[in-house]
Amino acid sequence: MAEQIALIDEAARVRENAHAPYSKFKVGCALRSTDGNLHVGCNVENVAYPEGTCAEAGAIAAMIAQGDTRITEIAVIADSPTPVPPCGGCRQKLAEFADGDVVVTLATTAGLSERTSVAALLPGSFDAGHMAKVT
Ligand code: THU
Repeated sequence: MAEQIALIDEAARVRENAHAPYSKFKVGCALRSTDGNLHVGCNVENVAYPEGTCAEAGAIAAMIAQGDTRITEIAVIADSPTPVPPCGGCRQKLAEFADGDVVVTLATTAGLSERTSVAALLPGSFDAGHMAKVT
């Protein structure tokens, strides 16, 4: 539990760095990888709106750049009325690097939080097994 609180704290800290002048909606994400390292990301918007990136994508990119490849725990936080869930695209991105039973903590800056899992967020997900005939 102490570890989980630390992960939310890291997500809240990096959220402050978000570049969100268009939506005004700052998001922070922290990931723990298999070797215990922490990786953080925030959303980075762009005046060409579709070019913006989500907090989860930033944290995943930081993890991969550091040389880690598997996620063991995830936390996402925003100033939202209810705990903020990853968008659809980010659910697929997280599933690339996390097993289905990996815990995802969704949080608000006001202190609400709930726990779910990668599999619960993306039921029936597309994975490499579906490409068995081409790989
Ligand atoms: N956003 C994230 O960073 N992660 C999500 O999973 C949901 C949405 C960002 C994208 C955009 O910068 C802002 O929140 C509003 O959609």
